[in-house]
Amino acid sequence: MPPILEAIRKADVLVLASPIYYWSVTAQLKLAIDRMYPLISVKATIQRAAMLLTCGNKSEDVNEGAVFLLDRLCNAYGWENAGVITAVGLHDKGEIAGRAEFDEARALGRKI
Ligand SMILES: Cc1cc2nc3c(=O)[nH]c(=O)nc-3n(C[C@H](O)[C@H](O)[C@H](O)COP(=O)(O)O)c2cc1C
Repeated sequence: MPPILEAIRKADVLVLASPIYYWSVTAQLKLAIDRMYPLISVKATIQRAAMLLTCGNKSEDVNEGAVFLLDRLCNAYGWENAGVITAVGLHDKGEIAGRAEFDEARALGRKI
């Protein structure tokens, strides 16, 4: 079993984090999700899942595909959807420093 799949199989919380690339999660994250397919028929330990997203656009619309993906994954795998944190309007290196979303992410981490 690939190490990432083994780690996911033993996890009790799953946090998917990605920048938005063309209205979706990155190909790298999607590949990791694709590798989870065998777990759909296995009794997994994951209880809840959350998502952290960044995007360049200032509108939340661009996050819709990724938010939909998390929602459907939670339905399919029986996870509680613990929520999504989005940081919009990010283009340049270092621009995220000091953003309030870090506090939101910490609060979410404590909650789950
Ligand atoms: C290939 C690529 C596609 C992107 N597509 C979108 C997009 O569809 N919508 C958007 O708002 N931002 C888009 N962006 C901007 C990134 O989501 C944003 O700058 C993000 O903060 C980059 O995070 P990173 O530095 O960790 O890659 C894209 C950036 C790249 C490189």
